[in-house]
Amino acid sequence: MKTVALFLSLIFLLGVALAQGQGPDELIQQSKDLFAANCADCHRLNGGGLPNKFPALNKNPYVLGDPGGVISTVLNGRQGNLGRMPSWKNKLDDQKIAAVVTYVRQAWANRAPAVTPAMVAAIRGQ
Ligand code: HEC
Repeated sequence: MKTVALFLSLIFLLGVALAQGQGPDELIQQSKDLFAANCADCHRLNGGGLPNKFPALNKNPYVLGDPGGVISTVLNGRQGNLGRMPSWKNKLDDQKIAAVVTYVRQAWANRAPAVTPAMVAAIRGQ
């Protein structure tokens, strides 16, 4: 009986350790770091952007809408009225683009579904 209990607690501890390694908190931290390193210079850490220069990403209907558009803006960049949004396709892999796009869709007041690396790969290949 004692052995069974010991065995079960070991399995439990292993589960806790695995969860800590790859849990949602860890992923959120990674995405936050990616945003801070690559996007916040222009769009600001609080997602507020800069008036007439860099669009706010917080509460932005484009960011919250069709994920395909957001993914392709980040992959390919864009020249628009406000200026040039750089391209990230040679700097960030599918996993990192999925993480940072998911971050901007779920940070601050934003609540939109996550984006997967497979969705990024499909748009990258177009
Ligand atoms: C050098 C400044 C700069 C950096 C760095 C930058 N952006 Fe942008 N971004 C822009 C500009 C300028 C625009 C607007 C382009 C236009 O006028 O259409 C833009 C537009 C966008 C849009 C579309 C917003 C809309 O309302 O259409 C998204 C989404 C976006 N950026 C996300 C990101 C993400 C995610 C990163 C980091 C991986 C990032 N940007 C890094 C300058 C930047």
